[in-house]
Amino acid sequence: MTLRIEPFAPYHAPAVQCLASDPRIAAMTLLPEPYPEDGAFTFIRLAMQARAAGEAYSFAVLAGDELIGSCGLKEVHDGQADLGYWIGVPFWGRGYASEAARLIVAFGFDELGLDRVTAHALERNPGSWRVLEKVGFTLLERVANPFAKWTPEDIIRRYALDRADWIVSR
Ligand SMILES: CC(C)(COP(=O)(O)OP(=O)(O)OC[C@H]1O[C@@H](n2cnc3c(N)ncnc32)[C@H](O)[C@@H]1OP(=O)(O)O)[C@@H](O)C(=O)NCCC(=O)NCCS
Repeated sequence: MTLRIEPFAPYHAPAVQCLASDPRIAAMTLLPEPYPEDGAFTFIRLAMQARAAGEAYSFAVLAGDELIGSCGLKEVHDGQADLGYWIGVPFWGRGYASEAARLIVAFGFDELGLDRVTAHALERNPGSWRVLEKVGFTLLERVANPFAKWTPEDIIRRYALDRADWIVSR
């Protein structure tokens, strides 16, 4: 099924709350763990504020009318932004993350006029870095995990996709 993305709004909250509460989402992302009871409403309120300020652009990922995940660009500055995404567990393995990542990357280059999109994924999360590689991202380096959430022994793979490479590959 062809996916579409739309800016987060309060009516997305029930579906986000349901899908993001699965601990398999927070295990690989910086989402809070356990996911708070008002987590989706708080996330969407902050996402709307960040969009208005031009700091971050978060989107609901929809298959038909059903919300199946989230993707976004944050830390938007100096022609760069950082990509993040998750897909609800019932929808894994259908190519949805790869398709959603392509949509948000196109938004970043075409609508925001970015020169570079960066991304990172845990080494032990091959599903995520496979998504990045399928979309055309290049592995920059493997670094020790800087986030408090995981152990210092965890390795983070850092990726980037430049506008010129995106134009050639699209
Ligand atoms: C990682 C995640 C986004 C993948 O979503 P998805 O919709 O299942 O991904 P896709 O179907 O587009 O698969 C992309 C590729 O990754 C591969 N893949 C997916 N899950 C995998 C896994 N657990 N192990 C190895 N490869 C995997 C797929 O086979 C596919 O590669 P292929 O086309 O060569 O076969 C999803 O599992 C998820 O949301 N996980 C929790 C949150 C998360 O990790 N977010 C990213 C944080 S950096």
